[in-house]
Amino acid sequence: MAAAVEEISAQIDALAERVDEAVTEVRNLEEPARTRALELKSVIEAFHKDGLTRIVRHLRADARGKELLMELAEDPSVYTLFAMHGIVRTDEPPARTKEAFVPLGDLLMPPGWKNGPLLSELTEGKPHRLDLDKMSVLILKLNGKVNAFRNECAHQGLPLDGGMVDHEACTITCPWHGFRFDAATGECLTAPQAQLERVDIKIEQGRVQVRAL
Ligand code: FES
Repeated sequence: MAAAVEEISAQIDALAERVDEAVTEVRNLEEPARTRALELKSVIEAFHKDGLTRIVRHLRADARGKELLMELAEDPSVYTLFAMHGIVRTDEPPARTKEAFVPLGDLLMPPGWKNGPLLSELTEGKPHRLDLDKMSVLILKLNGKVNAFRNECAHQGLPLDGGMVDHEACTITCPWHGFRFDAATGECLTAPQAQLERVDIKIEQGRVQVRAL
């Protein structure tokens, strides 16, 4: 098995070398041939990425397909291909492919959903802040249950992630002016008409996913 992996790695290295040489030659071409060749390269890559994305999406829609995908990603050649197209994280070594594969980037997320922290990264009773493009989210694990709210206090909209959590009372107190909220429902206990804005979440393969508005 180790010998097979070494052989595949050697093949990948040889192919990568050929690609490097070809790219260097293209870069040395005169214009407009150089631009055209680079355009051709990027069009072919986009074509491959589109096909790969469809294959991966299709496989992920089925439990057995997901398993096969994980097995495939153990192959260094397939892993390199996925990494080239941003389908797996490249900061993880291939031996941890199964974990690295979980996020699949935003590429394979349903529209409107973003990856949040792994459940294992959440500490009971400690607010976790997740900054997305258009919003900041407060994720809170309390008594084993995970809830998420827009990270804006219902009083003046200031961030709540530095708030104090009372585990027994199941509350979070805003660090700015002391408004208290039910940490499970977001209901304000200081000013009953106020309320934290709940953010939808789901747990996929041990990771919190957040519906980004
Ligand atoms: S902003 Fe939170 S209590 Fe004022």
